[in-house]
Amino acid sequence: MANKLKHTIHLTALVAIFAVMPALAGDTTPAAQLAQWETTAGQRGDPTRGQTFFTQKHGKAWSCASCHGAPPSKTGEHADTGKRIKPLAPAYNDTAFTKLAKTEKWFRRNCQDVVGRECNAAEKADVLSYLIGVK
Ligand code: HEC
Repeated sequence: MANKLKHTIHLTALVAIFAVMPALAGDTTPAAQLAQWETTAGQRGDPTRGQTFFTQKHGKAWSCASCHGAPPSKTGEHADTGKRIKPLAPAYNDTAFTKLAKTEKWFRRNCQDVVGRECNAAEKADVLSYLIGVK
């Protein structure tokens, strides 16, 4: 095989590895996500408000805590299916809030189930500031 071609193949493999890495290792951090939502909301996340939002019901059958527990430092259990859910508090789960697409997907789905609409940036900032504070 010509050396140049070999080199190209190696390079392609390297690029492929680096393209996959962020998907495996995560592409954000809990702190970065909190900062982003605080910026969008134009206010700081409030852990006390976040805890209230997380533990109370919003006119539907479930609260966030129904599946995630309160404090969400232990393995949770889906209120409906019994499926095990890793702790939501980042101090107890080093993959929590490390992939933006995953966080967005679950915020969308869970807020629909619990609140009947998507959570807004201020609510996300409150909840995340509460979760980051769970030690
Ligand atoms: C009916 C059960 C259920 C309820 C109620 C629920 N969740 Fe979840 N939630 C899940 C499951 C299942 C996952 C996915 C866990 C996994 O795969 O790691 C999840 C994941 C998440 C994630 C993604 C975390 C990450 O790794 O980025 C967030 C954020 C989240 N939930 C927030 C909430 C909030 C806020 C509420 C209340 C408004 C709520 N959840 C209520 C079941 C629930």
